[in-house]
Amino acid sequence: MSQQDEMVRAAQRLLLNNYRQAPVVMTRGEGCALWDADGRRYLDMTAGIAVCVLGHGHAGLADAIAAQARRLVHASNLYFIENQLRLADALSARAFRGKAFFCNSGTEANEAALKLARRYQAVVKQRPDRVELVAFEGSFHGRTMGALSVTGQPKYRAGFGPLVEPVRFLPFGDAAAARAAIGDKTCAVILEPIQAEGGIVLPPPGYLQDLRRLCTDSGTVLIFDEVQTGMGRTGTFYGFENEGVVPDVVTLAKGLAGGVPIGAMLANEEIARGFEPGTHASTFGGNPLATAAALYVQQALDERGLLEHCRDAGAHLNSALRHLAERRKPRTRGARGRGLLQGLVLDGEAAPVVARAAERGLLVSIAGGNVVRLAPPLVVTKSQIDEAVQILDAALESTA
Ligand SMILES: Cc1ncc(COP(=O)(O)O)c(C=O)c1O
Repeated sequence: MSQQDEMVRAAQRLLLNNYRQAPVVMTRGEGCALWDADGRRYLDMTAGIAVCVLGHGHAGLADAIAAQARRLVHASNLYFIENQLRLADALSARAFRGKAFFCNSGTEANEAALKLARRYQAVVKQRPDRVELVAFEGSFHGRTMGALSVTGQPKYRAGFGPLVEPVRFLPFGDAAAARAAIGDKTCAVILEPIQAEGGIVLPPPGYLQDLRRLCTDSGTVLIFDEVQTGMGRTGTFYGFENEGVVPDVVTLAKGLAGGVPIGAMLANEEIARGFEPGTHASTFGGNPLATAAALYVQQALDERGLLEHCRDAGAHLNSALRHLAERRKPRTRGARGRGLLQGLVLDGEAAPVVARAAERGLLVSIAGGNVVRLAPPLVVTKSQIDEAVQILDAALESTA
């Protein structure tokens, strides 16, 4: 039995059985390549689920983390943290100006956003009856009780009730349903500008603008969950920049520190009034180490022109996937996405194709059951994209 097989066997004994994992232990990475414990190399089109925006084994990021670790890892939010101020400032120079709260994950960022919205309505606006949350079928916002309560996929919710109420789920993209649901009893609307886990689902043109108008007119807090679509993933820093709207609150995580755990909730000045000292907190949130990594990533995005590269490489990936989808019909139904968040839509389950691809040295993931998701590091090259699509083609053939 290989060392890797032994580790996989030990995991069954030692870890809770909550993940559906491939029997592989990743031990090392470089750029868009990962190596497992048996020394096998993979081309990584997952970036650790849209996280490792600079790729793996990045020397500059490693140096920034090491330098900060030597200086100070953690002292808590009992005191101010210089890196948080610098990071909040850097984020405010992007397309959303507001105040920042730092935490450790996407789930926590959404949890903070929901709590802020509730408190803003109840305490600042003196409307404690405005509690209803509007969310969307097919959405994914995380696994804590609050974030799960606005996640519109029954498979994630089953067995965990009663969840936070009241939540109303609307069909994503249906403007008439939104008009009928959003009103003066609504506390907040939360959505992903592109539904990612739900299958890379883009909103119809003008839909986010409709939601913005409905929220503004009714005094509802509009929250965009940019945990997956943010940090340049779709070719602009935020996904919403493609849509000509700005939310009241935006959440980030995943790529924010290139793989070091961090989350952020940014709120405009008005909604930020909802929190006062003592109302929300996180022991680790925005600690010196995580924020040093995030600062490095902010700088690297600009210095390396990664947003522009993402648009260019993303267009290449989308076109290659469309050609593949055309060639492999009726096994495939098409390709969709924006920037380097792309999906190949299959006429059936994506799991076997994802498994066959891994056997051939390509890492991709599943979204929405029947979609193969590609969300590579933002530094991916066109030749790596071409190689990935070729392997995907062979994987499709082998499962035909
Ligand atoms: C849109 C979105 N929101 C929230 C989350 C949860 O983030 P985390 O796993 O960091 O808690 C995810 C994770 O996939 C996500 O895609």
